[in-house]
Amino acid sequence: MEAYSDREQIEKILTSFRAKQLLVGFVPTMGALHQGHLALVEKALAHNDKVVVSVFVNPTQFDNPEDLKKYPRTLNEDLALLKDLSVDIIVYAPTVEDMYKGNTISEKFDFDGLEFEMEGRFRNGHFDGVGTIVKRLFEIIKPDSAYFGEKDFQQLQIIKKLVEKHDLPVTIVGCPIYRETSGLAMSSRNTRLKPAYKKAVPFIYKTLKTAKIKFGTKSANKVTEWVESQFAKQPLLKLEYFIIADEATLKTVKRKLNKKTYRAFIAVYADDIRLIDNIALN
Ligand code: PAJ
Repeated sequence: MEAYSDREQIEKILTSFRAKQLLVGFVPTMGALHQGHLALVEKALAHNDKVVVSVFVNPTQFDNPEDLKKYPRTLNEDLALLKDLSVDIIVYAPTVEDMYKGNTISEKFDFDGLEFEMEGRFRNGHFDGVGTIVKRLFEIIKPDSAYFGEKDFQQLQIIKKLVEKHDLPVTIVGCPIYRETSGLAMSSRNTRLKPAYKKAVPFIYKTLKTAKIKFGTKSANKVTEWVESQFAKQPLLKLEYFIIADEATLKTVKRKLNKKTYRAFIAVYADDIRLIDNIALN
């Protein structure tokens, strides 16, 4: 495994890979790596000759300065985990100055309305920040394929839209959600959960699984009401949203149609920690 923070250096390495016609996979991350990230890296390793993992806490996708400040930064541990995985991994950990040249603002994107749903409603400018950094990273790495987790399902759909609209020569691969044994979706933010909250949060996935069963016989509205009533009884968890949406448009379901694919999405506060999860419904 090799690690670079310098743009010119990484570009040189990647040029040499392309000259040898090696397939390059790319896994963008914000670090504080856990098994969920590593599952993406392993999938990328299985399908490519070399895999670039970027580690960069992107300031423009945080709408809350406190969240950005508290975001865990564990580069040495991240490097150790990746080193154990494969010699074919190249880590790119640029500085904010390198990526933004003193101008930490986002480009504005039109993702055909995907950006206005869910996370877009609750995190102002979030997807412009994500689009800006991912597009920049794609331009530097020029990967054949890039791997994104379904944990951030809306982000995955938005990246597919970014690639389609800007005609970028990269294949986007979605990867299943990796969970702790409790069912909690793995997240870098989980490490900040205090013990009482750690005990309370498996309720999120448990409720999603029951909602899925209920959706078999009940309307989206009825299932949503049921979920909201369940969270009202949880003193340690604050439901921000529960939404059943069409997977393709991310629009809230009004009427079930047989030919559509639906997914339930949830965002919950446990203390000051915001957790998201989702589940395929059909
Ligand atoms: P980050 O939250 O570090 O996640 C990096 C990638 O890992 C994303 O594609 C995310 O969906 C995936 N991931 C995280 N937890 C996962 C889990 N439990 N199971 C499966 N995949 C999981 O997402 C970002 O960073 C940033 O927005 C980024 C794309 C790097 C742009 O800054």
